[in-house]
Amino acid sequence: MSEQKVNQQWGGRFSESTDAFVQAFTASVQFDQRMYKEDIAGSKAHAEMLHRQNILSKEDFDLIIKGLNEVQAAIEAGTFEWSVALEDVHMNIESALTGKIGISGKRLHTGRSRNDQVATDIRLWLRNTLDLIDAELKRLQLGILDLAAREYDTIMPGFTHLQVAQPITFGHHLMAWFEMIKRDRSRFADCRARMNYSPLGAAALAGTTYPIDRHISAELLGFDAPTENSLDSVSDRDFAIEFASSASIMMMHLSRFSEELVLWSTPAFDFIDLPDRFCTGSSIMPQKKNPDVPELVRGKSGRVFGHLMGLLTLMKSQPLAYNKDNQEDKEPIFDIADTVLGSVRAFADMVPAIIAKKENMYLRTKLGFSTATDLADYLVRKGMPFRDAHEVVGKAVKLGVDTARDLSEMSLDELRGFSDLIDADVFECLTLEGSVNARNHFGGTAPNQVKAAIERAKAVI
Ligand code: ARG
Repeated sequence: MSEQKVNQQWGGRFSESTDAFVQAFTASVQFDQRMYKEDIAGSKAHAEMLHRQNILSKEDFDLIIKGLNEVQAAIEAGTFEWSVALEDVHMNIESALTGKIGISGKRLHTGRSRNDQVATDIRLWLRNTLDLIDAELKRLQLGILDLAAREYDTIMPGFTHLQVAQPITFGHHLMAWFEMIKRDRSRFADCRARMNYSPLGAAALAGTTYPIDRHISAELLGFDAPTENSLDSVSDRDFAIEFASSASIMMMHLSRFSEELVLWSTPAFDFIDLPDRFCTGSSIMPQKKNPDVPELVRGKSGRVFGHLMGLLTLMKSQPLAYNKDNQEDKEPIFDIADTVLGSVRAFADMVPAIIAKKENMYLRTKLGFSTATDLADYLVRKGMPFRDAHEVVGKAVKLGVDTARDLSEMSLDELRGFSDLIDADVFECLTLEGSVNARNHFGGTAPNQVKAAIERAKAVI
């Protein structure tokens, strides 16, 4: 990047050029050049609006479009020379435009300020990113559905307090993940909808004296409408905070999935196998196969939560309207976007490739007295109050613990020793299959309910 002595964009009232360190310190071009496409699209829409309103001549407008196309081509070809002295993406592009087309380039900034320009660019960039995130989240949902459809009747222990609680199906567990992602997508969609208004024309803060039509540029850029208030347009970054907050909640979900994958793939659980291509080995321990992808995603949630706090703190106490503080919104937004896109992509690739170790899942479900509630429910159906049934089954479980046997492995006589309401039909509800099949209602774990949930999910995805 080249340096430059007197700033050509606003040098008029200055008698000395900016301190070299201050120039570099206040510049944002190192990171905001990521928004070059949005900046050029915004400029084109602004120029078209100016032209349609007879503020900009046809010749100037045509030259501006042609020049902007050339600038974009140079950026994309890697031949564009970014300059720190020109501070940010906006002034770099405008200066290059003027270098190409001369005086017409200087007319582009009529009725506009970098304040509404940057507020427009970042919204456009985020809107596009939200669409990319949504597509990846949808791909993850499809991966979850794929695995859930394969494992809809695979029995595994359901946990509370990470202690075996009741038998569930693996498909049911996966569909819980699906629901979380469904809400994450809707949170991002809300964020997009609230953000999709055009700040262009707000200018520095108060609007402009030219006869602009903000509806034209808003429509050209695919915004729902222009923003209502010029001060609000250039000053608030609540959409960035909302994005960070939706992203944090989503990463919190991914970190929970990660934790489960890490646990399930340890030999201590041995519920799943993660394909080798998502794991790494150890340089010292030859036997190791580490679940790096879920571990890293779990870890990456931290930086997203941190950015949420950073953005909240950035905006807290800022007086209206624009302040240079706002330049600090971009790096967190970009980092959140990269982190979220990478994490979701890794999950979307990995989840459908998970291999369930059905026998181990089944065995672990049997070892945990997971049908104890079913036995209590059985006694209730035979007329015993639930609290008494709880007590009776607790005693049976104690015998099971003492003699290392599941309830289903006790004889009818032994079980009848706890209550004479127990008959031979008890064994139907003590089996794992009987237990899951009995939870046969909307939202329950019975395999046919899981199947129905998968069908409903396919319809709404
Ligand atoms: N680089 C600035 C930002 O990211 C652009 C707006 C600067 N406006 C100003 N009045 N200094 O916020």
